[in-house]
Formats: sequence, structure tokens, C-alpha cells
Amino acid sequence: MKRLLKGGRVIDPGNGIDGMHDVLIDGDRIVRVGRDIPVEGVTVVEVPDGYVVCPGLIDIHVHLREPGQEHKETVASGTASAVAGGFTAVACMPNTTPVNDNANVTAYILAKAAEAGLARVYPIGAVSRGSKGELLADIAELKAAGCVAITDDGHPTASALLLRRALEYAGMFGIPVIEHCEDQSLKGDGVAHEGFHAASLGLRGIPGACEALGVERGVLLAELTGSHFHVAHMSARASLRAVRKAKEAGIRVTCEVTPHHFTLTDESLLTPVAYDTNTKMNPPLREAADRDAILGGIVDGSVDLIATDHAPHHYDEKNVEFDRAPFGIVGLETAVPLSLDRLVHSGLIRLPRLVELMATNPARVLNLPGGTLSEGAPADITILAPDLKVRIVANALRSRSKNMPFDGWELRGSVAATMVGGRPVFVNPEASIRL
Ligand code: DOR
Ligand code: ZN
Repeated sequence: MKRLLKGGRVIDPGNGIDGMHDVLIDGDRIVRVGRDIPVEGVTVVEVPDGYVVCPGLIDIHVHLREPGQEHKETVASGTASAVAGGFTAVACMPNTTPVNDNANVTAYILAKAAEAGLARVYPIGAVSRGSKGELLADIAELKAAGCVAITDDGHPTASALLLRRALEYAGMFGIPVIEHCEDQSLKGDGVAHEGFHAASLGLRGIPGACEALGVERGVLLAELTGSHFHVAHMSARASLRAVRKAKEAGIRVTCEVTPHHFTLTDESLLTPVAYDTNTKMNPPLREAADRDAILGGIVDGSVDLIATDHAPHHYDEKNVEFDRAPFGIVGLETAVPLSLDRLVHSGLIRLPRLVELMATNPARVLNLPGGTLSEGAPADITILAPDLKVRIVANALRSRSKNMPFDGWELRGSVAATMVGGRPVFVNPEASIRL
């Protein structure tokens, strides 16, 4: 079946495209991007003025929780959440039960993803067996089974030696090591960013230096091994400084930031309600100077991409004292509205840079097939409605979990529709488009 997306602003940074074009799709592939493509024999989809057609968004940091923690999320519910958030592909973290440290778990996740038939799922394998930080996982096996990177996320890689070996092996297989950067001795039993707000609430602090130490360690080992080191959920200004210096020195380092870290600060620990466990995540919400530095990195290109660190937790797990609650918030369905509102409509960046941060660069960093509207590429397409106003409602999320601090927020900018392999997998009923 041939389908023509007619009208709309087509933005494909990888191909230097930004303009009024049509996109022709045949089956599961993109055939052509251009003007005045003949409409004979094709189904025409009228894309309203002001809407943006771009390569499908890719979130490379998602916790799908399956196998083993299906009360928080499943591959089916997580990918439903992903497509509703405009993501055509997600890479999922290995801290499941059991940990994704072998081909059987990887195959299980891929089978669940195929069964769900929504977003594409790219599993990420563990650095170490059981993510215990002792023995290296079988990285050849993980790669052969379909893993696109390795990480012990949730925790940093346990030692410099283990990280060195992980980088060496991952390098041989052409995949990056994704690091949850954190010095555990400095973190101790901290639960919030170390500063005025945590102190005023009597919460133990985690300084930005805790993350930056992990970044510096990884940068040195990336230089030593020549392998690709990727910094997950970067939150501290000292980490950004280390990444910038490394990039200037030509070291193979990339980094991601989350919408919550560029939107919120540690002030949210106190307002609108104090001790809300939906403001507890790791790394923690930082002080304004860190948040502003991260925004600066988004603007000047030092930040490679946006990833959500979608971390679903059950209501009962979060509904406890701040100290005892698990770290993490869901993010797949709020990433686009937050990014459009806070980055684009605020005037910090333009739409092509946002598409680069959410589609082009995520595909490049993990070597994935998407992120482009090139001829012959998979027809993974996101249609954005940048001016559509949305009200975030936690209970209306597709995710099985509702843990997030944005309930009731009104934002400008949303997703109109999501297509995976030429198939519409989400159409926003509030948007003026029918597929
Ligand atoms: O906030 C977080 N939640 N940070 C992590 O590193 C892990 C994640 C989770 O798995 O819940
Ligand atoms: Zn992490």
C-alpha cells in the first residue's frame, strides 16, 4: 500500500531537509521526500499546516521492566506508552528480573516486542553477569542476540577495571558502553541533590561531583581504550564540563539529558508539595545552575540527545517515606510536550535541533536503522503538532505506572501521530489528522 503524507513541514536533519514537502511511503519503506509527488494510486493523508513530519523519535533510555517486574510495566504497556509519546523505537535497560545478561532474556524481550507490534524495541545488555559487578557478561552473545549497547544502569559499573574491559569488548563489537555515572562512596545513602532544599527537608544529599567523578573515570577509560563511552542521564554542570573537554580532545564520548533534568530543579522537592516521591530520581533534580548549564549544552551542541530514563514504579512502591521510595519517574508520554514547550517555544532551540536530539542523534549513537527519512529507510515517522496545547494527566497515561511530577501541567506542543514501518500505531484524537 502506498501512502502520501501531503503538506506539513518536513524536518530531517540528517539529510539537511527543512521545508514544505510530501513524503511517499510504500509498504514499510520511505520512497521519496519531495514536492508535488503525483497522487494517483496512493492514499493521501493531509498533514495540517504547522504540523511537522520527522523521522520517528527514538528513546534510548527506557526501563520496560519485563521480564519480572510486570506490576510496574510490560513490554506491551511500555511500547504503548512510547508510541503515544511519539517514539517509534526504544532501547530498554537490562535491570529486569532476571537481568538481561544473556541471549535468552534478550530473545524474550524481542518476542514480547514483536507480539505487541507497537514501537521497535532494542534491548541493551548488562555489562556484568546479573549486573553484580563481578564477572563480565558474554558480550559477544548479547550482541549476537540483538543487544545494541551494554550497561549496568541503575548502578555504575562496579570498578574501573571492569569498565575498561567492558569498553574493550564492546569496542570490538562496535557497540557503546552506557554508563550510569556515579561514585557510590560519595553518594552513600543520599536521596536528593545536596543543597539548600535537601538540607531544609532533612534529606541526605548527593552532590553533582558524585556524577562528575563517574564521567571523568569513563572519559579516561574511553581515551585509554578508544571505545565509545556514553553518559546516561547527565544532570550536573561538572559532568557537562568533563564531556565538553573530552569532546574537544577527540575522545569518543556522547551524552544524553532527560526532560525532567532540563525542566525541574531541586526546588520541586519543596513545592508544590514537600517530600513528593515523584520528585525522587537518580541522578536527582539538581540546582538551578546545573539545570541552566544543561540547557546551555542543549543549545551549543555539547549534549547529543534527549532520553527519558522512563522508570515506572508501582503506586504502592512510591507511596512511602521519601527515603524509602525507589528512584525514578515515567517519561515517555511527557517528553515531547516538555521539550517543545521548554526548549522550542521558550526560544532556546529551533525545531530541527529538537529532531536532531530526539531522532537523528539517538539513531547515530546506538547505530540504529532509523532517525532518517532517506529513500529506502524504514517508514518510522512521527508527526508533531507543535502548537497543540496539552494537559498532562497522570491517570490517563498508557504506561502501567503513573509516577511523575507533571500531573496537571499545561504545555504547548504535542504528538499528532506515530507510524512504525508505515503502519499508524498512534493517532492523537485531539489532533486534526486522520491516518
Ligand atoms: O531514577 C532512576 N530509576 N535511575 C536509575 O538509574 C534507575 C531507574 C530505575 O530502574 O528505576
Ligand atoms: Zn541510571
